[in-house]
Amino acid sequence: MQSKRNQYDRRNCLEIGQKAEDIFASIATERGWKVTAASNYANINDHWDVLIQKGVESYRVDVKGMKRLSRRDSDVQDEWIWIELHGVREHDRGWLYDGKAELLAFEKQGSFVIVMRNDLIKLVEQLVDLNTTVRSAKAARYKVYSRPGRPDRITMIEMEKLAGIRWDEWPKQRSRSPERSEGTGAEEQGTGEQRSKEQGTREPATLLPCDLAPLSGNLYFQADSVSIYHDDFLSTECVEENSIDLIVTSPPYNVDVKYGSYDDDISYEVYLEFTREWLARCLKLAKDDGRFCLNVPLDKNKGGQQSVCADITTIAKQVGWKYHSTIIWNEQNISRRTAWGSWLSASAPYVIAPVEVILVLYKKRWKKTGGSKRSDITREEFMEWTNGVWNFSGESRKRVGHPAPFPVELPRRCIKLFTFVGDTVLDPFLGSGSTLIACVETNREGIGIEIDSNYCEIAKQRLIAEGRVNQGRLL
Ligand SMILES: C[S@@+](CC[C@H](N)C(=O)[O-])C[C@H]1O[C@@H](n2cnc3c(N)ncnc32)[C@H](O)[C@@H]1O
Repeated sequence: MQSKRNQYDRRNCLEIGQKAEDIFASIATERGWKVTAASNYANINDHWDVLIQKGVESYRVDVKGMKRLSRRDSDVQDEWIWIELHGVREHDRGWLYDGKAELLAFEKQGSFVIVMRNDLIKLVEQLVDLNTTVRSAKAARYKVYSRPGRPDRITMIEMEKLAGIRWDEWPKQRSRSPERSEGTGAEEQGTGEQRSKEQGTREPATLLPCDLAPLSGNLYFQADSVSIYHDDFLSTECVEENSIDLIVTSPPYNVDVKYGSYDDDISYEVYLEFTREWLARCLKLAKDDGRFCLNVPLDKNKGGQQSVCADITTIAKQVGWKYHSTIIWNEQNISRRTAWGSWLSASAPYVIAPVEVILVLYKKRWKKTGGSKRSDITREEFMEWTNGVWNFSGESRKRVGHPAPFPVELPRRCIKLFTFVGDTVLDPFLGSGSTLIACVETNREGIGIEIDSNYCEIAKQRLIAEGRVNQGRLL
């Protein structure tokens, strides 16, 4: 499916990386090297992309595609390069220290500058002030950039500093000799465009701007039209503002569910503050005709009676969402009926509605004006689903391995009813990935954010098994 997301999107990092690897591999082949791609495992955990072999020489190479220096910057790697001092996973010190590549190939507009990883470690330790931490990517030049609560640490050094440790530089042109060149800079060879016209070689990589560490860090999985980000929705930067057609989600309910990384037993006041914060964030990310299907309980009985649905609706309106309607989801789950209060007595009986709700909200205008205008809902579905009482069963926690999943049927209905084919759907609390499975099934683009890496993995496995996506690349 054609991606509708803009060129600054993080997904381009993968495309850029792949493109750079392809170009590098073809140059290596032209120069007489036998090239073998790394396994997915080696790629993710050992940080190398291709093995190049010639005679007795054999090197694993980590190819670094061209990146922007920061999101608002149009400079690319020709002048400054990003160096990873620690990876995005706690146990992974990243490609510089934990990588298994002997060689690192940094893509420039006209060439690849290749250095030994061990030499780069020494250079970085000489040049970079490893004791000074900065909070902005812009300030990361020769200092350490890190963000609170996140393990990844990066720095920037000037490309020209690599000159002293250069193993080789391969221009992006057909090499005339299979021998190693003696530092033939691309600068001496004219522009890539000129060269390819004159010599009929491949174009240099398209200069799509893209951040490296700050943006690509938490992309956990990507395949077909869906992406999973391992991140905290409250602080994530992976979704662009005004880019989402529909948000479908079920947040934590504050009923002491034992999630892996989130404490679901906080005071009601704190819970409502958290709710206010993430609802406001969702609003920013939605397009003006963007919609929101918010699955919440009607009320809360555990730890004190609370009007959860009413309170969340009020907060949603306070932060700027407009109210459209409420769908009742009848889970048909009577086994929940355990607390009667005073049995057969008016002294203190409990009334519990065994249903949940889906609040339907929108950002500025209800009428959809953007998108493909192509609906794929059938007549029967439309007739049944526009009746706002939905009857279908819940999902088994055991089956999906998550403590509070909703069934794929819930996002599937919301998506088909409220979006056009090709629209972009966001689930900020992805859990086991149900929303992304529905996206794959309905040909929508999907983005899911999940704070717990185990759930990201469950979501990924479900996408492969149930969504039958092509296995994407992990970071
Ligand atoms: C009710 S569950 C969502 C279940 C999901 N609808 C499914 O079908 O599996 C809420 C999820 O939100 C995640 N979560 C909690 N706080 C988060 C945050 N700040 N950012 C992202 N995810 C968060 C929890 O780990 C949990 O998996």
